[in-house]
Amino acid sequence: MYPEPPLLIRRALDDDTLPTRRGDAESVTVPRGGDMFISVYNLHRSSELWDAPDTFDPTRWDRPTGPAANAANAAASADGASEKREEERWAGYDPELRGSGLYSNEIASDFAFLPFGGGARKCIGDQFAMIEATVVLALVLRRFDFDVAAAELAPQQGLGVAVPDIGMRTGATIHTEFGLWMRPRRRRDIPQQPQQRQHQPPQQQPSQQPSL
Ligand code: HEM
Repeated sequence: MYPEPPLLIRRALDDDTLPTRRGDAESVTVPRGGDMFISVYNLHRSSELWDAPDTFDPTRWDRPTGPAANAANAAASADGASEKREEERWAGYDPELRGSGLYSNEIASDFAFLPFGGGARKCIGDQFAMIEATVVLALVLRRFDFDVAAAELAPQQGLGVAVPDIGMRTGATIHTEFGLWMRPRRRRDIPQQPQQRQHQPPQQQPSQQPSL
């Protein structure tokens, strides 16, 4: 919902003509040297593409959306919706196309979900970043619980920040405007890791040496 880079920027190396979003007869002329801003934030929040785009709903990635959902319904009801799919230029989101990817990528969403960009200049660290974030979060949450504490802690820094007011600041990347104030509590009920259980020192075995 908050793509780290909210904009991707491209500069035309030559005069070019691009189709409009629906692929109709109109076109857009881009002059050589012209910059194009692709608003990833707006793309991810577009109600033309996504159902309830402002709602935090991770389960959305488990079901087809848009024309991909129409195609799935057409296959079930054979009502000709697949023809509609031909007309529409966005293929929709199809979770089947995610493959073994660690996140719902641009391929599964026909380039409507671009947290790591897409095409030739796509991020080379996407899989690494997802694994790194997951491991760090899991290790931290294993040891600490967190309470949101903006109302209590932010005023100590001269900020009057209530929880809903963490704000949003954008530049090259998106941030909270005032920080996300949390108070960590060390957990006492830390579950034992599986490898700790596996690597218990082996029980002392009776000596196999034949006694003399
Ligand atoms: C959550 C973490 C990350 C996010 C959200 C992210 C996002 C992105 C995006 C959107 C682009 C495409 C920029 C464009 O099209 O103009 C990009 C490019 C790139 N990223 Fe990442 N990235 C992340 C982590 C990483 C990591 C961990 C590495 C390296 C290990 C990395 C290396 C690169 C490189 C080298 C490019 C340029 C690729 C090219 O232009 O050929 N990124 N990143």
